Amino acid sequence: MVAYNTFTLNQGDSCKANLREQAIQMVNAVTSHGESQFVAEVAAEPPLIVILELLRVPLQDRRQCRPRSAITDLQHGTSVVVEIDCMLVSLNKVPTRYPEQLTRGKCAAMFSKGEIKTFFPSCVWIHELQEFRDMNASMIAELGELRKSTGYTNPGNGAWQSRGNLNKLPTFEPLMECFTAGSRRVLEFLKYEFENFVITDAWANINPPGHSHVIHTHPNNFLSGVYYLQAPEGCGDIEFIDPRQQALVLQPRATVQTPQNAWKQRIPPREGQLLIFNSWFQHQVQENRSDQERISISFNIMLKGSVGVESAGAQF
Ligand SMILES: [Fe+2]
Repeated sequence: MVAYNTFTLNQGDSCKANLREQAIQMVNAVTSHGESQFVAEVAAEPPLIVILELLRVPLQDRRQCRPRSAITDLQHGTSVVVEIDCMLVSLNKVPTRYPEQLTRGKCAAMFSKGEIKTFFPSCVWIHELQEFRDMNASMIAELGELRKSTGYTNPGNGAWQSRGNLNKLPTFEPLMECFTAGSRRVLEFLKYEFENFVITDAWANINPPGHSHVIHTHPNNFLSGVYYLQAPEGCGDIEFIDPRQQALVLQPRATVQTPQNAWKQRIPPREGQLLIFNSWFQHQVQENRSDQERISISFNIMLKGSVGVESAGAQF
């Protein structure tokens, strides 16, 4: 209807064919994936395609056309000019239905319906910052100066870690605003009530070739994150470990690794990328196999004020 009210008859016919083709692809994609974010992936698609058609924007240019959320919006009026595009990675994302090959045959014939529910997913929220290069360059320069005078160097492998006070230094203010904006978005996504939250600490990690980072969590905090300033190809993926310890007791061989049988999941670091995750989520970093240093800034977030219900609450 939108198409026919907007275009001429010929354009409408052309748009209808295109929409039908796009709708088939959309349904196939959602079906094969087994689940979807309904509003973003289904409901918003046809109108978006019509708008693109109306504006004569090629579909392959769509990535550039997607609206991006400015941090100024997220932070209700702060002056940071960096824009971010956010996506959610659910490391336990599973289909809601069996794949087609398992819906045929003798076993499948015994059941009138097959459905898969996922409980307690573990999430990593990934934010891609826009226009980060100048900001990264100034922070790397500042870290070079800090490295000469303060911080901690591991004599065994040359890795350097700054003190945890970067959240108090002016050079890092724009990045701290990104951390705050991303964390607020995560807390709102999780639909938690909270009075306030603070960055408790933020520190830089400069890791030379050959360096890896052992498995760890970030205790005494609620959310944690890492941002990549310099991440050459092969500098070491961050790996998240299945938090269900019971699931690691018996690990049959898998014919194919899937989110349902894997006990760890990797994310390759990218410059300008901000990851946020629950502080309890165990993670480690693979060996840096590039010929350059990997430079990142990590941080922790803690809730402030009243937390929880009256019968099981706390003040922070
Ligand atoms: Fe960490």
